[in-house]
Amino acid sequence: MSNFVDLRSDTVTKPTPKMREAMMKAEVGDDCYGEDPTVNALEELAAQKLGKEAAMYVPTGTMGNTAAIMTHIQSGEMVIMDSECHIYYYEMANVSSLAGAMPLLASAGEGCLDPDKVESYLLNTRHRPKTSLICMENTHNRAGGRVVPLENMESIYNIAQKFEVPIHLDGARVFNAATTIGVDVKEISKYTDSVMFCLSKGLSAPVGSVLTGTSKFIQKARIARNRLGGAMRQAGVIAAAGIVALQKMVDRLQEDHDNARTLAKGLAELDGIDIDIEKVDTNMIMIDTRPLGMKAEELAGELNKRGVKISIYGLHTIRLVTNKDVSRSDISLTIEAFRDLVNNLT
Ligand SMILES: Cc1ncc(COP(=O)(O)O)c(C=O)c1O
Repeated sequence: MSNFVDLRSDTVTKPTPKMREAMMKAEVGDDCYGEDPTVNALEELAAQKLGKEAAMYVPTGTMGNTAAIMTHIQSGEMVIMDSECHIYYYEMANVSSLAGAMPLLASAGEGCLDPDKVESYLLNTRHRPKTSLICMENTHNRAGGRVVPLENMESIYNIAQKFEVPIHLDGARVFNAATTIGVDVKEISKYTDSVMFCLSKGLSAPVGSVLTGTSKFIQKARIARNRLGGAMRQAGVIAAAGIVALQKMVDRLQEDHDNARTLAKGLAELDGIDIDIEKVDTNMIMIDTRPLGMKAEELAGELNKRGVKISIYGLHTIRLVTNKDVSRSDISLTIEAFRDLVNNLT
């Protein structure tokens, strides 16, 4: 066991004993023939939770998003998204290289899309390829785990409906968003045509994400998954942990959010740590390292020496993410590590 407090991401979470037990006992079959009962059960549960007709298990969130885009559009078309979204920023240009789309950026800041920019893209169709999809992300990772408000989702959805353009939600952490807003996740997914969510982040499953949508969409998405090499065989062994994640791990996400707030409040009291607590919506904290006179890399190195791992998110930005393997005492240790660092600077 490592002695580090690992705040790099919620992806570092280890499977729970219940997950390991479920994995050991999982009934399996060849999922390419639709014969894995555990994968089928996970897909049914996921579709029902998100209020969609059907679902498809995928190894990663990246594959789920890529398969969704490939299914919604034709190569050569355009997809509206935010310039900081995961699909644009991190997913290896799959939106262009694999789906053949050109991204159209319509950011409004804080993870939201600008309804006016979206509408004007959809209105101006002369001399341009068709705009066939809008992608949103909730919670928004690079915005610091911010929740995209339901009002923003609704206004983008109303525009999308008017122009008959579907919305895909990168809902890697959509259950965190629902927890903070205090609604059933269906209140978010109702403003979308497809949703990808991850089992392997705050929900702590070792592997897997799920793409949800209409039955027709998912049937087509299975072909995209095949093209990406993501059709698996006795995948029930890992899907079993996903079922436990959905049944047992959603209700505890508030604990991660509370820990993030406690950490943010503790850190904000230290000289040179400038955190806007009101922006800590979920399990993430972003810190600008400039008031400490340090670059992110240098600060990460200093924290590492003090037993805390964090992520570098820009030249002068670090990200801290609470998760089920970070306890209250780890939060205190982290505040003490920062205090020691700050005291040694002055
Ligand atoms: C918002 C968001 N979407 C998608 C993904 C991709 O998930 P995966 O790492 O399973 O491909 C991530 C991963 O961190 C993410 O944060």
